[in-house]
Amino acid sequence: MCGIVGFTGSAPAAGILLDGLKRLEYRGYDSSGMALNRPEGLLCLRAVGKVCKLAEKVAAAPEELRRSCCGIAHTRWATHGAPLERNAHPHLDQSRRFAIVHNGIIENYQALRKRLTEKGCEFSSDTDSEVLAHLIAETYRGDLLAAVAAALKQVSGTYGLAVTTSLEPGRIVVARRGSPLVIGLGDGENYVASDVAALIAHTRQVIYLTDGEVASVTPEHVEIRDLDNLPVEREATGIDWDVSQAEKGEYPHFMLKEIFEQPDALANTIRGRLDFEMGTSILNGMNLSPRDLAAIPRIVIAGCGTSMHAGMVGEYYFEDIAGIPTRVEQAAEFRYRNPIIEPNTMVIPISQSGETADTLAAVREAAAKGALVTAICNVVGSTIARESGRGVYLHAGPEIGVASTKAFSCQVAVLLMMALLLGRNRRLSRTEGLALAEEIAKLPELVRQVLDRADSIRDIARRFAQYDNFFYIGRGCLHPTALEGALKLKEISYVHAEGYHAAELKHGPISLLDERHPVLALANDIPGKDKIIGNIQECIARRAPVLAVANPGDAGVRDLGCDVIEVPRSSRFIAPIPTAVALQLFAYYVAAERGCEIDQPRNLAKSVTVE
Ligand code: G6P
Repeated sequence: MCGIVGFTGSAPAAGILLDGLKRLEYRGYDSSGMALNRPEGLLCLRAVGKVCKLAEKVAAAPEELRRSCCGIAHTRWATHGAPLERNAHPHLDQSRRFAIVHNGIIENYQALRKRLTEKGCEFSSDTDSEVLAHLIAETYRGDLLAAVAAALKQVSGTYGLAVTTSLEPGRIVVARRGSPLVIGLGDGENYVASDVAALIAHTRQVIYLTDGEVASVTPEHVEIRDLDNLPVEREATGIDWDVSQAEKGEYPHFMLKEIFEQPDALANTIRGRLDFEMGTSILNGMNLSPRDLAAIPRIVIAGCGTSMHAGMVGEYYFEDIAGIPTRVEQAAEFRYRNPIIEPNTMVIPISQSGETADTLAAVREAAAKGALVTAICNVVGSTIARESGRGVYLHAGPEIGVASTKAFSCQVAVLLMMALLLGRNRRLSRTEGLALAEEIAKLPELVRQVLDRADSIRDIARRFAQYDNFFYIGRGCLHPTALEGALKLKEISYVHAEGYHAAELKHGPISLLDERHPVLALANDIPGKDKIIGNIQECIARRAPVLAVANPGDAGVRDLGCDVIEVPRSSRFIAPIPTAVALQLFAYYVAAERGCEIDQPRNLAKSVTVE
């Protein structure tokens, strides 16, 4: 979603802010802006489009203005108000002495705007955010921290907020409720951002704000308070990502880089977590004793997008390997459908970013209902990870590409290790557990073998890039894999792609098939393959071009005369991961062939922090 960055120190702020915004562009954007704080007044620059448009304006601004050493900046993903320059952040109050950048939604903005308008305030945007600038100006009595706290007491909704005023040069005040905000600690300089990716070029020491906190940030000090002005003590957290992990390096796109990082990412996810003595896994972050694990009667998984698809694969694992009834909820639905949470029900929120608003809401609902909340997140210290209290980190490194790739593989690997642990805690024998652990250990190598075939997947993708509609079909745990493959294609190539259970095709969708409507069939050599072959024949009979994913040497599939993407042979539990990697590459190369903006697909945001 929108991104925030701020800097205060003794170096020129504009370049640092632009660099931070570029690192946040992946979150989603349609406009950007910055406010530079100088005693003689704020300088506010805004531009529609990518951050490079703002950079052009900064380059054209007079030198003295660029020398300001304190400022706040924003990339916007429109919610209230079209992507126009007047709706881009920062927003200023009428006196132009207060500037704010805001992520989230101010739910009572209409009432606030009406009251402020009646008082004589003139609004210059269509956004909900602008009320914050006017409110803060109204409450200001010489202390920005106190003014922000007082203003926020009148506000309902969500915010990650950064504010600066020309009346207090060098000071930024930040606040958070429901939208992430992190403070980066430097030497004689400090940073603020909505996302650590904007900070890691400068510092690895960060403080995460929690909901209901405001903080004053100057070059030398960080002071955190709650909205009642009581001081809050918070230790800094060390970030173990390095800058190169958040840069593209030799790859044309983050997405391709992250696809190719998967052997290493999986190795990091698995490292130290398999116990070959006992044939089980070691997931210390779950923090549950064997007795606790044995008492879990049911599992509910909640996630959005790719993370939900990973959860759907996990559903097969928990039921098949551990014998625990499991269901997957679209996270947005979780709290509204009043889910059944029995004592000891384990709720597993899955979120790469750990900040998705709907998944966070599910965590809170699950916690309120007394569930054992055990999160699967990638971003260490993220809100979902912190609020869940227990869980398993992916350790996949930063995922910048908007289309999630390595997070999916690593989420599925974690779910498999969780199922192994729960299975061994119940009906799985040591021998069976050992066999599964050995298969999991081979995942990095299996994925490497898929990547070795990238050129042949690219050649096939180029031939299929001409089509505007696709069905992806699969069975068993390759059904959610088909959903994920179709999502990848939609997200980055704008090709209409639907995932279906292979058996479902003939219950309606098959009516759409003809020679212009290809079907991508997951025909790995696992139970159900014979049925998929039957489904492929049904498609071929309707003249649909078929592209099958199959294992090397599988004559049964090749004999059908369809195009084939080969993935290495594996058991049914392992198959979703190498298969998903092949589908990621296919989507990537289709999008590249169609000339799409792969890392910044239109309308999408990496981290969706509004409901
Ligand atoms: C957004 C992203 C998706 C992602 C989903 C969930 O929609 O574009 O790629 O799968 O959010 O994100 P999370 O961080 O919770 O896994």
